[in-house]
Amino acid sequence: MRKSVIAGNWKMYKLLGEAIETAVSLKPLVANATHCEVIIAPVFTALKTVCDRLEGSIIKVAAQDCSIEQKHGAHTGEIAADMIKDVGCSHIIVGHSERRQFYGETDETVNLKTKACLEVGLTAIVCIGEKLAEREAGEAEDIVKTQLLGALDSLTVTDMERIIIAYEPVWAIGTGQTATPEQAQEMHAFIRKTLAETQGKEIAEATRIVYGGSVKPDNIKGLMNNADIDGALVGGASLEAESFAKIVNYK
Ligand code: PGA
Repeated sequence: MRKSVIAGNWKMYKLLGEAIETAVSLKPLVANATHCEVIIAPVFTALKTVCDRLEGSIIKVAAQDCSIEQKHGAHTGEIAADMIKDVGCSHIIVGHSERRQFYGETDETVNLKTKACLEVGLTAIVCIGEKLAEREAGEAEDIVKTQLLGALDSLTVTDMERIIIAYEPVWAIGTGQTATPEQAQEMHAFIRKTLAETQGKEIAEATRIVYGGSVKPDNIKGLMNNADIDGALVGGASLEAESFAKIVNYK
């Protein structure tokens, strides 16, 4: 049985005080959520304090990105995966579409970041997903497959135990236009089939594939009712503790 994952991506929102306030308010609201893993991803500057304030709670903390560089050195502005681990995080989001679209992230850098994350023992939440024009041109599966295989290139069977795939169609992110549960399930099944072909059936069955793109308290249940949807990566609706808690407690 795959354990569901509900992760909140706070993007570039919240000053430190606001991040602490949201994290602390969330704690009691999700304290009984044993059915899924709960993760929040604040900005870098809030990671250490949020991790400290969440000690003893079930909520885990993710960074939103990391450097491709594994060795400390002259890389101004970069943050290495071991530095993220050092402050108490357990997960790193890599390859988010905003990073691919606006910050030059490629399948190759996503692969290097995934490896950097795994190297220090953290779990990578690897984001993939097609743009609207690509879907309309009938290329969605090809794009998703290329991104998936690119991100996972040369990973081992053991590495795969610490991979969560986030399918986030770009046209559904921040737009209020969620993929229908059927559209999401269809792509998740395709991703699992591709994993089975490339990594083996056992890994494909064990890997969590979460959906992202305008997930809200009122659409989470419909998404989670599908066999291949193992959770959600939530942006906008994760910024308020109450709405994120509703998503976590969707059952
Ligand atoms: P959204 O963002 O829920 O605001 O659409 C999802 C994401 O970017 O991970």
